[in-house]
Amino acid sequence: MIRKCLFPAAGYGTRFLPATKAMPKEMLPIVNKPLIQYGVEEAVAAGLSQIAIVTGRGKRAIEDHFDINYELEHQISGSDKELLLEDIRYLIEQCVFSYTRQTEMKGLGHAILTGQSLIGPEPFAVVLADDFCVTSGDGVLAQMVALYEQHQCSIVAIEEVPRAQTASYGIVCGEEIKPGVIKVASMVEKPEPEEAPSNLAIIGRYILTPDIFDILESIPPGRNGEIQITDALDIQAQQGKVVACHFKGLRFDCGQIEGFVDATQHVYKAYYEQGGNYPLSLMEKLSSH
Ligand code: G1P
Repeated sequence: MIRKCLFPAAGYGTRFLPATKAMPKEMLPIVNKPLIQYGVEEAVAAGLSQIAIVTGRGKRAIEDHFDINYELEHQISGSDKELLLEDIRYLIEQCVFSYTRQTEMKGLGHAILTGQSLIGPEPFAVVLADDFCVTSGDGVLAQMVALYEQHQCSIVAIEEVPRAQTASYGIVCGEEIKPGVIKVASMVEKPEPEEAPSNLAIIGRYILTPDIFDILESIPPGRNGEIQITDALDIQAQQGKVVACHFKGLRFDCGQIEGFVDATQHVYKAYYEQGGNYPLSLMEKLSSH
């Protein structure tokens, strides 16, 4: 059973400067919720309630967000505004949050390795909060947990991207064993279009088996001189231990201005169409299951 979800959240978010000068990029809101809260909601909806966050300097707002603000609660108590805090209160009640700091930026693989002390020897999920995913049924992590239960190996979420964009992603290739499920033969980090083995890109959702930590410790730096999770997963893939999940849903790259604006418009439209009734409310989602 998977209980833990790791959020690497130490990156600088330079594409959003100056907004991210004193504020973590994970706290940028899509309409009225910070990106990282959507990620934690997705984890909770998939049954994962131990939330491990790898932070860095200047990220304290994340810890404050997942804590009670008594002064504010007192101020709005008894008013309509209480409803706006319903989801975050639920997360604070349901989850245990733990934090560790990444002191040097040496890549996503290094960030995940930094979280080892919070995870221990058990399978776990990883969410990159700036990949914002919207689904009509089960969330992306819930779809991946279901696959993990069948295959008991590492799972990556993938989507097709235009060939010209392969150099922005980890790219997988392998054999489709069921519609939307691929047994991964190999994967490569950010290949140029002419070298890419396919156009199936990994997005920021992973389920990893704990042997990944030893692999991460043993591999040399890869693309950009950084420790890459894709290189570690490639070693598992060669042993037949990685499955890719062509998830159902939409993903917005909120690490880029364009994706962030598209996500905002998408959520706002959904909000507006429902007459202002928080269509992405976690409480509604949970009760509709
Ligand atoms: C990271 C991973 C890459 C993956 C991507 C998904 O890259 O290294 O394999 O496809 O996340 O968003 P980054 O976006 O951090 O450059």
